[in-house]
Amino acid sequence: TDLTAFAYGLPKAELHLHLEGTLEPELKFALAARNGIELAEKTVEDVRATYDFTDLTSFLAVYYPAMQVLQTAEDFHDLAWAYLQRAAAQGVVHAEMFFDPQAHTSRGVPFANVITGYRRAAVRAQDELGISAELIMCFLRDFSAEYAMATLMEALPYKAWILGVGLDSDERDNPPAKFAAVFERAKAEGFFLTMHCDIDQVGSVDNIRTVLTGIGVDRIDHGTNIVEDPELVALAIEKGIGFTCCPVSNSFVTEQMKADEIVGLLRQGARVMLNSDDPAYFGAYVGDNYVALAEQAGLSEAELVQLAVNSFEASWLTPARRAAYI
Ligand code: ADE
Ligand code: ZN
Repeated sequence: TDLTAFAYGLPKAELHLHLEGTLEPELKFALAARNGIELAEKTVEDVRATYDFTDLTSFLAVYYPAMQVLQTAEDFHDLAWAYLQRAAAQGVVHAEMFFDPQAHTSRGVPFANVITGYRRAAVRAQDELGISAELIMCFLRDFSAEYAMATLMEALPYKAWILGVGLDSDERDNPPAKFAAVFERAKAEGFFLTMHCDIDQVGSVDNIRTVLTGIGVDRIDHGTNIVEDPELVALAIEKGIGFTCCPVSNSFVTEQMKADEIVGLLRQGARVMLNSDDPAYFGAYVGDNYVALAEQAGLSEAELVQLAVNSFEASWLTPARRAAYI
């Protein structure tokens, strides 16, 4: 349709994308075969039948076990390269991609396999697709702060390949304050900072206050519960904090896209933009998220353009490179 063509054609940055969440069933089977792994599911339909999510926990219970097929640097390359080609087809010209090293090191896969494979795909995207791709290393918040710090230390030799650090996985009982020292060290090392403040978690707005006023992040992933505190919204707008919203993901892990919250923030001038989160699991890449929210909320073309502009303004591109896009 016209809306789809317009949404896909808008040049945009994707800022909230978990590489491990781009593992499509077809690639999962190919990697399993290459690595001699027997999977419980026999067909693509069997795999999709397990995508029956009611909340973040039930999603994560499918997401982590699937990663067993990822072992060699080539596997990580193939995963990221497949994503980058799909993203390019939906108008992505710049991607800042999350990866979860502890989801791999915790099962014995060397950190070097993960980072070298992903980096090779990022370089290839620039060379062959003309899109810039960067990596954001996320700590898994349901592991300890000590393991996060050890992961940060392990990453330092690869600092040139990692733009920033983030925090993901299960937020319940794992608030941002648990990782304050890790993020302080990451900031001192020169990394940009972001953290998931997931939708409708217990204490969500308190966690958002902590990351904005205490830890001092550059962006917040999701974070739309901020609408519960108008003063905090005003502060986020003043600081130019980016909110990496994921409407289709929201509709899987809560009952709705949170369109009112996202669009309300947009219309107040907050730096919100749309992203795909875990597109293989939620069935929607970034352009599809623009279409879904536009259909749900009746967005104008000018508002879709504003979302795309926000994606560059909230990106961690250098000012000169950002200016080339907006
Ligand atoms: N890891 C991958 N996707 C995630 C999400 N939507 N929330 C928290 N952690 C995640
Ligand atoms: Zn996410």
